[in-house]
Amino acid sequence: MLDPQKTFYLEIFGCQMNVHDSEKVIGTLLAQGYRRVSTVEEAGLVLYNTCSIRDKAEQKVFHRLADYKKLHAQGKRFGVLGCVAQQEGEKIFERAPHVSLVCGSASYRNLPQMLVQLEAGNQRVTGLDDRETDECFETEFTARTNPHRGYITIIEGCDKFCAYCVVPFTRGKERSRTSDSVLLEARQMADLGYSEIQLLGQIVNSYKDPSGKMTFAELLAAVGAVSGIRRVRFTTSHPRHFGSDIVAAIESAPTLCDHVHLPIQSGSTRVLAAMQRLYSRDEYLERVAWIRAARREISITTDIIVGFPGETEAEFEQTLSLLEEVEFDAVFGFKYSPRPNTPSLHLPDLVPDEEKARRLAVLLEQQRGIQKRCYQRHVGQVIEVMVEGQNVARGQWTGRTSQNKVLNFTVPNGVIPVVGSFIPTLTTGSFPNSLLGEMVV
Ligand code: 5AD
Ligand code: SF4
Repeated sequence: MLDPQKTFYLEIFGCQMNVHDSEKVIGTLLAQGYRRVSTVEEAGLVLYNTCSIRDKAEQKVFHRLADYKKLHAQGKRFGVLGCVAQQEGEKIFERAPHVSLVCGSASYRNLPQMLVQLEAGNQRVTGLDDRETDECFETEFTARTNPHRGYITIIEGCDKFCAYCVVPFTRGKERSRTSDSVLLEARQMADLGYSEIQLLGQIVNSYKDPSGKMTFAELLAAVGAVSGIRRVRFTTSHPRHFGSDIVAAIESAPTLCDHVHLPIQSGSTRVLAAMQRLYSRDEYLERVAWIRAARREISITTDIIVGFPGETEAEFEQTLSLLEEVEFDAVFGFKYSPRPNTPSLHLPDLVPDEEKARRLAVLLEQQRGIQKRCYQRHVGQVIEVMVEGQNVARGQWTGRTSQNKVLNFTVPNGVIPVVGSFIPTLTTGSFPNSLLGEMVV
């Protein structure tokens, strides 16, 4: 009979790194005899893998913990994993006394021992490594949720210390895996039937092979050459380390997707310097020019923060003009959020929240117009998509293009596309965030 205490519920917040870490945490718990359940009520152990990149993300977990506080009396145990755990540490026990496990990402390898302590009734189990940790979380038990597309972490941590960012404090110093271990995992995934691999790192292109065998661009090409792998993506790139060799690798390997996510954060060189981003507007545009010069059309997406302390209206307008100049395929815009420990926390000239909200709305509205034009250009093209699923209500199927755009398409009567397969589609229409098409037979 299954021990009801050995059931767990896990909710995931934040970035792809957290999603993939969670797959490893789930695999580790399953290997320890735990069973995953889909509601808090059914679970003996309730885990939140948290994000602290912005204040809102951090608040979410405390709201969630407050919502379920009363369930503690029924013998449920609560655990906080991830960036909020690492950042707040034992303070979480004070703020939410029903929590009995606090564990940052660099300590997940110790989860089996921590579970034993929890099972023994220990009320304050912690796994909190400092920034200097050399540990990576590699496990043979990764429980990947999608059978076609899977993540591989190639580098963890960040040494950049951008003025606004908590990541260097929550995820520790940069540490890369050897190219051999990455390629071994890629081959194992191909053998299991995966056709798309997404290489992950907070700064994926800061990758440094500890064995010295490969550069990042060479590793990209090598993963792309693994038999059975049809698509390789990588995220997130830092402009400072974005060399033309990455564009050359994409050009020479058809399996490397036509997409680069290259966060700029601001279009003003003055603000970029205040953010400690280590590149200027012109240097960023130089990288865009390399990407645009490729023989294949490569989509470019970015992240932007509005309302960094001291950002003037004129500097914000430089961000708007940069959007027009680059014509990004997608923009993820954020209001600046002051974070603990970060160099910008005590900077003067805070932009009022309403002004940040106004700038964000203006930015997103302008980008909507740009994307309308940008998506429109695909109409009439035949584009291959990886099938992701069906939208029965609309009588459509959904796929993703190599450029990472969503393409909804119809199929001829009687045809049922296989999820995970690749099929050609003719693009017949466009919206600011998706394309419309029909399967080509
Ligand atoms: N405030 C707002 N946005 C932030 N980001 C990182 N830190 C902050 C912050 N303190 C954004 C950046 C980064 C993305 C993942 O989140 O744009 O690229
Ligand atoms: Fe944060 Fe900058 Fe590191 Fe990205 S590069 S994780 S924004 S410190």
